[in-house]
Amino acid sequence: MKLVLASKNPKKLKELNDILSRLGVEVCSEADAGVDIDVEETGTTFEENSLLKAQAVMEASGLPAIADDSGLCVDCLNGAPGVYSARYGGEGLDDMGRTRLLLENMRGQMPRSAKFVSVITCCFPNGDVISARGECPGTIAFAPQGEGGFGYDPVFFVPHLKKTFAQLTAEEKNAISHRGRALEAFKVKLEEYLNK
Ligand code: IMP
Repeated sequence: MKLVLASKNPKKLKELNDILSRLGVEVCSEADAGVDIDVEETGTTFEENSLLKAQAVMEASGLPAIADDSGLCVDCLNGAPGVYSARYGGEGLDDMGRTRLLLENMRGQMPRSAKFVSVITCCFPNGDVISARGECPGTIAFAPQGEGGFGYDPVFFVPHLKKTFAQLTAEEKNAISHRGRALEAFKVKLEEYLNK
């Protein structure tokens, strides 16, 4: 079975293929499926945005499509940046700029607890939908540490490992990350669906 990934991120494509190839599922890129669309993420929840992306690519390609929507939710900021994680502070900022803004907005605020969330959704042309959510709890460090990963990884501290996400190897991060957990849950649901 072939799924189209509703994303232009080659890292996500590899991660999905690594996990789903064991089910005999091949995940291809939008380009492989002849699709090139930018879906506006107008939802207010990870579930809504993940569904919007998967639905749009499924309709454009005529093939089952899979999407993930993820972000960082910080308790003392009432869950911000949340679904706006990729756009926090506006279009002009890069990953480091958004991370600096986050630290600035948290100055003097407690608690520093936070979680990463990922929701994976797969839409099938017959209208069926499978969705799975993964979360990873942690705290926000006072300063960036580590060189790995992307986004907010340098300030996302995992207390039981005493390291930020940016100080973990890709394997260590995938084993506990929100996306790794959502993908594992998704894999179980997809396997059940395929064996129905
Ligand atoms: P999406 O591609 O619309 O799901 O946006 C997700 C955004 O959330 C990214 O651009 C990052 O800013 C942030 N994010 C999601 N997952 C991670 C992660 O594993 N590490 C660091 N930042 C992440």
